[in-house]
Amino acid sequence: MTIQDFIPKPYSQTPESGSISFKAPSNIALVKYWGKYGEQLPKNASISFTLNNCATKTTLVYEKKSTDGFEFEVFLDGKREAGFEPKIQKFFERVALYLPFLNDYKFRIETSNSFPHSSGIASSASGMSALAMCLMSVEKSFSEAEITNSYFNQKASFLARLGSGSACRSIEGDLIVWGEHKNITGSSNYFGSKYPHSVHPNFKNYQDTILLVDKGEKQVSSTVGHDLMHEHPFAEQRFAQANANLDLLIPVLASGDLSKFIKIVESEALSLHAMMMTSRPYFILMKPNTLEIINRIWAFRKETNSKVCFTLDAGANVHVLYPESESETVQEFIQKELAQFCKNGEFINDHVGQGAIDLS
Ligand code: PMV
Repeated sequence: MTIQDFIPKPYSQTPESGSISFKAPSNIALVKYWGKYGEQLPKNASISFTLNNCATKTTLVYEKKSTDGFEFEVFLDGKREAGFEPKIQKFFERVALYLPFLNDYKFRIETSNSFPHSSGIASSASGMSALAMCLMSVEKSFSEAEITNSYFNQKASFLARLGSGSACRSIEGDLIVWGEHKNITGSSNYFGSKYPHSVHPNFKNYQDTILLVDKGEKQVSSTVGHDLMHEHPFAEQRFAQANANLDLLIPVLASGDLSKFIKIVESEALSLHAMMMTSRPYFILMKPNTLEIINRIWAFRKETNSKVCFTLDAGANVHVLYPESESETVQEFIQKELAQFCKNGEFINDHVGQGAIDLS
């Protein structure tokens, strides 16, 4: 597969108007992507659990136009959200070569998130993935030639990546790899794909409770953070470490060894934040309560032999990961000990999911 394969043949039919809706989830990386090159290509391979409950619903309404240039409006929960439009404009510019119909229609993009406003949960992965699925679906309806499911998902992931890197891992479930890795067949820098090796039942329906530590706007965006990896003194070591951690994860996913799983996942989270703390300029996205929660998780594990662990994305919130078999005990622990460190005691219970779904 080359990127030329994503440039479509001339469309066989182009209706006057139409509408399509998709729901797409967020994802949480176990091995993190941090640092990119070219047009949204990752410097190392990453792997994530697709989530289920944290999701974006998007309806794309389209109508033929005769003017030049892109024309679109974005609505969040029914209200015009002009603040999102520069990002969509940039996205359209990047993907126009692969979706030539973008110039011929005006679009209304209606979007809503399942998670609360300003929860500190990034909606870019689920949002870009939902929009990419809608656009692919429009293309499919214009094409005479058969578009297979596998091509559909690959191109949707390819497009989502051009909107927001990690969004390419939100098209399918349940474990998705993005970035070329020598020991993962089919892995690509251009799109995410299903993890192809065996996965132990311990990881089935894995739980992720997201503790909302800080609900404000991040001080440093992911875009800036990725950019700082260009001049980073430890960049090359970090990219090699991530690829090596993915190698270590392969036998662990097969054997279901949760103690080894924890070591890789927690180390990845802290390495990601170590990169932030050693960037020039340096920055810290964790908050005192992030560290308090991490310490409580470690103490709980020591006391109870639980296999609960944490991971972090580019923010202060903590993702608490645990096997389904421990749901009851870990939920009790979260309520009793961890919720007090969340803003207004809020957290979101989620679990591994199967990817985007067509709502039309
Ligand atoms: O997709 P972006 O550009 O928002 O970057 C996300 C990077 C992390 O969430 C920190 C890690 C990852 O692999 O998802």
